[in-house]
Amino acid sequence: MKYCLFLLILFSLSFVSWHSDAQSYENAKHHQCLKCHSNQTYSFMNSVKGKEEKRLMNPYFILDTVAMTNGVHKPFDCTDCHSSEYASYPHNGNLKLEPLSTCLDCHGGDESFASYHFERIEEEFKKSVHYKVYGDNFSCSKCHSQHTYVATSRNSDNVLEIVDYSNKMCLSCHNDMKKYELISGHENPKLRQVHDWLPNQELHFKNVRCIECHTEVLDSLQVSHNILPKTQALRKCVECHSANSRLQASLYKYHNLQKRSENGELKMVLANESYVIGSHQIPHLKMASIVIFILTLVGIIIHATFRILKKK
Ligand code: HEC
Ligand code: HEC
Ligand code: HEC
Ligand code: HEC
Ligand code: HEC
Ligand code: HEC
Ligand code: HEC
Repeated sequence: MKYCLFLLILFSLSFVSWHSDAQSYENAKHHQCLKCHSNQTYSFMNSVKGKEEKRLMNPYFILDTVAMTNGVHKPFDCTDCHSSEYASYPHNGNLKLEPLSTCLDCHGGDESFASYHFERIEEEFKKSVHYKVYGDNFSCSKCHSQHTYVATSRNSDNVLEIVDYSNKMCLSCHNDMKKYELISGHENPKLRQVHDWLPNQELHFKNVRCIECHTEVLDSLQVSHNILPKTQALRKCVECHSANSRLQASLYKYHNLQKRSENGELKMVLANESYVIGSHQIPHLKMASIVIFILTLVGIIIHATFRILKKK
């Protein structure tokens, strides 16, 4: 019996260590792929010359191991998605031709991911300017790296972090001439000039997501995926700078943010319909005004009672 227990423990320990060995991106030095793909340089055995050689790594093929360890696909190992033939170097040239799974290949029709509405997202994405112009050449992976993706907006309780994560996806291409040209074949319009009608551009880009102005707000999806043509982009200041701001139906709609605001931590007073961006209410002042109001009322009542009593 004791022997059995011992074997069981030994087995589970070896299972755990095998698991973390195979799957951990943290130990990049020992990972069979990351020892090359997380560094600026790599070494390999040149079998023709019969000696080790050191070369520079293509910067676009250097992976961020920290981001991968935090990503939603961290339980995967490289060869769950890429061919196991990559284990040898030089890689077989034909591997370039291998089609990789798309988000929908794995998540489409899967009940356990139903709350993300992958199919609805795809539907909306297919209406977007990107898909209309470039078709399947513009895949989900152009915005979402399968290596590092995290569903930030539904999980973070920090507006600035949500905005930053989301906008980096757009800027990674719209502010990167090479990536933009790769897909379009021409230069990218300068975002600063395009938006020069917007005052405090930097402040806006830090506080609102690009998609707030470039998609229509949908109730059925957490994140709208239909990027509209530029002629339909939002330009009206009052859409956001007003009492019922559209941001309440988009950026501030997340449950995690609502919950935080109930605890009084969030600077945006979400539940309050009359909140106007740029005119923050100060809770202590509000409390003080209520106290003053009550005190005044009590004063008036006491004063009135005394006067009535005196008259008699
Ligand atoms: C000895 C270093 C080294 C090792 C180990 C290595 N790679 Fe690579 N890999 C490279 C280099 C260099 C390139 C750039 C293109 C080339 O030389 O083939 C590359 C390219 C790639 C590409 C891009 C292919 C393309 O053209 O789009 C993928 C995907 C890839 N490797 C995956 C892997 C995986 C998965 C592993 C582990 C199973 C791995 N690599 C192990 C060095 C390595
Ligand atoms: C969940 C699936 C998945 C896993 C796990 C994965 N990859 Fe990838 N990888 C992809 C996809 C999809 C692409 C193509 C991206 C695109 O189309 O832009 C890609 C592209 C690449 C590229 C080409 C450069 C790039 O970023 O486009 C390299 C190199 C690479 N992967 C290496 C690796 C290594 C090394 C690992 C393990 C540490 C790994 N991948 C794990 C799905 C995955
Ligand atoms: C090779 C199959 C595969 C591909 C391709 C893939 N995923 Fe996943 N994804 C998974 C699996 C399996 C999990 C669950 C991982 C776990 O158990 O932690 C997952 C987890 C997730 C989660 C977290 C779900 C949750 O609630 O925990 C999100 C979000 C996600 N994927 C989005 C995407 C997006 C976006 C793409 C395309 C860019 C994509 N996935 C591509 C298989 C895949
Ligand atoms: C033009 C860029 C872009 C493209 C293309 C794109 N997305 Fe997104 N997606 C975003 C942004 C921005 C977010 C919000 C980021 C965040 O905080 O998660 C997002 C969020 C998501 C989420 C999380 C939603 C939630 O409810 O939490 C999923 C799942 C997703 N996208 C899947 C997809 C799939 C599947 C495709 C392809 C059919 C796709 N995306 C194409 C930009 C894009
Ligand atoms: C406050 C609303 C707003 C925000 C926030 C915003 N945009 Fe725009 N954007 C617009 C409007 C309106 C136009 C149309 C401008 C015109 O045609 O003169 C536009 C135009 C564009 C264009 C078209 C450029 C061209 O002329 O071809 C791109 C690309 C673009 N925006 C990307 C972005 C990105 C990326 C972000 C996030 C960093 C962003 N926008 C944030 C309102 C906004
Ligand atoms: C991989 C590169 C890439 C990414 C990522 C990307 N875009 Fe684009 N986007 C393009 C290209 C290329 C065009 C030019 C399309 C054309 O030629 O009409 C474009 C066009 C646009 C336009 C202008 C449409 C018009 O009417 O001219 C807007 C607005 C836009 N993108 C917004 C966004 C937003 C918002 C995001 C992030 C959620 C984003 N893009 C992510 C490459 C990208
Ligand atoms: C997509 C929503 C949105 C649109 C459209 C928009 N803004 Fe803003 N604006 C914001 C947010 C969010 C902030 C950050 C406010 C804060 O932190 O309280 C901001 C900040 C500002 C500020 C600085 C206010 C301060 O408290 O420092 C000014 C000025 C401003 N916006 C003017 C404009 C003007 C003018 C327009 C129209 C041309 C416009 N905005 C359109 C959302 C928007």
